[in-house]
Amino acid sequence: MDMLKISHVGKRFGDKEVLRDLDFTVPKHTIYGFVGQNGAGKTTTMKLVLGLLSADHGEIFVDGEKVSFTNNRTNRFIGYLPDVPEFYSYMNPTEYLHFCGAITGMEANDCKMRTEEMLRLVGLDGEKHRIKGFSRGMKQRLGIAQALLSRPRLLICDEPTSALDPVGRKEILDILVSAREETTVLFSTHILSDVERICERFAFLHQGKILRQGSMEDLKKSCGETGFELELEQEEKLEKLMEHFPGGTRQGRRGVLYAQGKGQSMEAVLAWLLREQIKFTKIEKSGLTLESLFLEVVGK
Ligand SMILES: Nc1ncnc2c1ncn2[C@@H]1O[C@H](COP(=O)(O)OP(=O)(O)OP(=O)(O)O)[C@@H](O)[C@H]1O
Ligand SMILES: [Mg+2]
Repeated sequence: MDMLKISHVGKRFGDKEVLRDLDFTVPKHTIYGFVGQNGAGKTTTMKLVLGLLSADHGEIFVDGEKVSFTNNRTNRFIGYLPDVPEFYSYMNPTEYLHFCGAITGMEANDCKMRTEEMLRLVGLDGEKHRIKGFSRGMKQRLGIAQALLSRPRLLICDEPTSALDPVGRKEILDILVSAREETTVLFSTHILSDVERICERFAFLHQGKILRQGSMEDLKKSCGETGFELELEQEEKLEKLMEHFPGGTRQGRRGVLYAQGKGQSMEAVLAWLLREQIKFTKIEKSGLTLESLFLEVVGK
């Protein structure tokens, strides 16, 4: 059963068609990457799922229940981290989560326990400072803790990593992976390496239309056999290598690329290099990446 089903949804703002026949599903307990450039329609889609905007046509279901604009009861299943989260900055994290639990009607003891659990999950346990002085990364982590507080079935994060440095991004990605055990995660981003790192499925949104969607596994399979690139330490040895393993294309002074289907295996070349005691500075498989696929489908 799918946690989220978006079925033929369209949305206009005035005469601008922002979403066109949007159609995709997010299976339970997956991490789903919703990829698109600025203005693609990611935030609009998320607001439709939250019932904050009304679709012009089409339907949305959260855990089998239909989302409606005026009576968005399905939000009891959803935790949401907006692209620019706002907090009461004079509170510390514990006070803030207790406050959020109270206004959403959580039972006091449960709220206390869950607050501790969530602050531990995001690495803010024991943090007594006011939110005012927090870094962007800390605010995003607190935002995830808040979104997960009431045990949502679906966690929606709008570009949770976009404004963060690599360390901060990794922390958020690790938290989303841990959260997957108890929830389903839909997150939007334009950082393709983040999607490659943690997502099981993805959709490419471009100018309001889904251009490609699928599982990372399918993507990897569609890469099939990959080629490989190699760079030797000494230029003089390259010719000997290319004679022994024909079919390669020279790359610069010391490099060679064996494209897929040329019948050379990276393992065989590697074994030969070691036997011949020829030093190399790089050897890596080259295949279809999410980035190259994205650039291809958006026609760049
Ligand atoms: N309330 C609105 N009124 C008019 N146009 C809007 C409104 N909200 C969004 N848009 C337009 O809809 C398009 C999609 O916007 P949206 O915010 O959904 O994109 P996004 O993929 O989230 O982009 P970003 O990566 O910049 O956050 C944009 O062209 C935007 O200008
Ligand atoms: Mg947005």
